[in-house]
Amino acid sequence: MTEPAAQILDGKALAARLCQRLQSAVATLKGEYGQQPGLAVVLVGDDPASEVYVRNKGLQTTAVGMLSFAHRLPADTSEAALLKLVRELNQDDRVHGILVQLPLPPQIGQPAVIAAIDPAKDVDGFHEVNAGRLMTGATVRALVPCTAQGCVMLIKEHRGGNLAGLEAVVLGRSNIVGKPVAHLLLEENCTVTVAHSRTRDVAEVCRRADILVAAVGRPYLVQGSWIMPGATVIDVGINRVIDDAGKARLVGDVDFASACRVAGAITPVPGGVGPMTIACLLRNTVVAACRQRNIEMAAL
Ligand code: GUN
Repeated sequence: MTEPAAQILDGKALAARLCQRLQSAVATLKGEYGQQPGLAVVLVGDDPASEVYVRNKGLQTTAVGMLSFAHRLPADTSEAALLKLVRELNQDDRVHGILVQLPLPPQIGQPAVIAAIDPAKDVDGFHEVNAGRLMTGATVRALVPCTAQGCVMLIKEHRGGNLAGLEAVVLGRSNIVGKPVAHLLLEENCTVTVAHSRTRDVAEVCRRADILVAAVGRPYLVQGSWIMPGATVIDVGINRVIDDAGKARLVGDVDFASACRVAGAITPVPGGVGPMTIACLLRNTVVAACRQRNIEMAAL
């Protein structure tokens, strides 16, 4: 077997370093300003994967010293009842960030819920106000979607701070990852292509990428032969598959075995983008708390 050529981008370690900085920022906010940032997470229904995410978010929130408020609502909750809770959280001074776990049950309209969240507390960065700020380059006033932020931090781990002029290809055009990551990379002066299910010859498009971000939810889609030698490959996919031995496994959108022989650096699944998403959620909560209280903090 050939040794992998690619550097493995350790999202767990990078997230742990970010959480350490957040912990000391929270200590300063508490000690010097009497403010303890608080994050409210709302889960509707009992989807097991969402349960795990919500529990982990709560544990990590308290681990950095912030307040965690979990709201679990039954699967048959009405849209009106959820909107009422969101409005209460908007008014609650102990809550600086609000996250409503997606997906929502079919009787609840996702756009109405996202629109109801105070943009200043929208730590997911899904509200049109925050999406608009990101798109117009007012990134310093936006709350930026967490996974997209995490991707760019991992890219900078490999490439350094200056990404100007690099070819970036983003596979996937979701509001949660594909579009925000494309805007962030544009802001970094990359030449950005967004490829998707209707793109002609997606492999050829990928082959020109210095930076390739895969966020489509298709296991093993991206093959080593799609990757330019030395490219930075960020795998956002978290797909549950049954392996040859009949065991359930989590795999990304990239065929790791073939990709890591070609790429310059690649994120593993799990342990790549996933831990960065939660760390960036906590970061957004600290940022939101500082902005709401007009507190200037050093960059986190
Ligand atoms: N479900 C899967 N990913 C996310 C996310 O980033 N935010 C929310 N609110 N729900 C999700």
